[in-house]
Amino acid sequence: MTNPLPDERYPTLADLEGVAKGRMPHFAWEYLDSGTGRESLVHRNETEFDNIRMIPRFMRGELNPTTETKLFGETYSAPFGIAPIGFTSLMWPGGEQILAKTAAEFNIPFCLSTVAADSMENCGPVAKGNGWFQLYPPKDKEIRGDLIKRAKSAGFKTLVVTVDLPYPSMRERQRRAGLSMPQKITPSILMQILQRPKWASATASRGKPEFSNLTKYVKNDEIGDIYTFVGTQLIADIDWDYIKEVRELWDGPVVLKGTLSAEEALDTVKVGIDGVWVSNHGGRQFDPAPTSISVLPDIVEAVNGKATILFDSGVRSGADILRAQRLGADFVFLGRPFIHGIAALGDMGGRQVYEILFRDIVNNMQQLGVNSFEELMQVEIMHGLGEQ
Ligand code: FNR
Repeated sequence: MTNPLPDERYPTLADLEGVAKGRMPHFAWEYLDSGTGRESLVHRNETEFDNIRMIPRFMRGELNPTTETKLFGETYSAPFGIAPIGFTSLMWPGGEQILAKTAAEFNIPFCLSTVAADSMENCGPVAKGNGWFQLYPPKDKEIRGDLIKRAKSAGFKTLVVTVDLPYPSMRERQRRAGLSMPQKITPSILMQILQRPKWASATASRGKPEFSNLTKYVKNDEIGDIYTFVGTQLIADIDWDYIKEVRELWDGPVVLKGTLSAEEALDTVKVGIDGVWVSNHGGRQFDPAPTSISVLPDIVEAVNGKATILFDSGVRSGADILRAQRLGADFVFLGRPFIHGIAALGDMGGRQVYEILFRDIVNNMQQLGVNSFEELMQVEIMHGLGEQ
């Protein structure tokens, strides 16, 4: 059943967040934590879960809940996974491989970003078949084809196409903190680094993070440096024809990440995509957007079982995972909490986050009086979504 936590001093994800903030330089923290505009969406993403209430039932005898979850032909040990986070090693050096290892050890999916700071060739084998690859759609179709081919040969099983970044957002806090690409070492940045000696020495021994999946495509004479490349090549101002082509190029499950509209979800199903990933990118792109949890029921109803429903943005506990499942999500992902884990506890951080969530799911299922996710779907709910 449940195991002890690697560090019992931090029994919640919020505990890890506090420790992580004290171990990362300010500019890296701002990159991870920030949203955009007034940041109302980052806040609503978390608090809106409180509006979903589930009514427990008792006299159920002994309860030994099962958490195994089938998804795209695989059986995972729990209904949650690790969302793609660009430049993870900026926040904690070696972070991509720590999380790939966590995924392999605990049998959950790990999604590697196109703009990761470690390559798919390095991370794929570490994830041992639990790796998914997230594609920011390149404009250049040869590069697109090559990335997809490389992901396949590095052992990634599912392709996730992120479509909710049509243009970069303002990310005001990152700019205020002095984060830039490439990072300029100003006196303020140097001071921020010196205040975080563990991060600084780990970064010094690992080396400066780079866009490792992309360096091979940059010919300085033609398209400028790698940062210009990322800024101009990977912006998802694409259309359905592009998505259909990607569908053709991958002979496995394809997921579209970033859907908030029931109508768009239906169009996604029509072009043969296997999974609709309901997400607002953790509130980083468009502050007036709705929370993922508030649009989930309409999307589930529209899709009506014709595609798998994945979900993220604002999930901070096992209870939140159960709430999203109860509203129809087949699988749930978390972004920032896994980074908080590794920044707080290094190599043990992924495991700590996994165990906190796993424990909380099992305990909340026992509180509710259910033994399985099928039984969870029978639980009576009350919700006032969108009422804040
Ligand atoms: C992201 N996210 C993201 N998504 C994606 O498809 N590719 C990427 O490279 C990134 N990079 C990234 C960096 C950082 C610092 C954050 C916080 C987020 C979005 C991510 O996959 C996920 O949708 C959100 O993080 C989910 O919200 P929570 O769990 O962070 O609230």
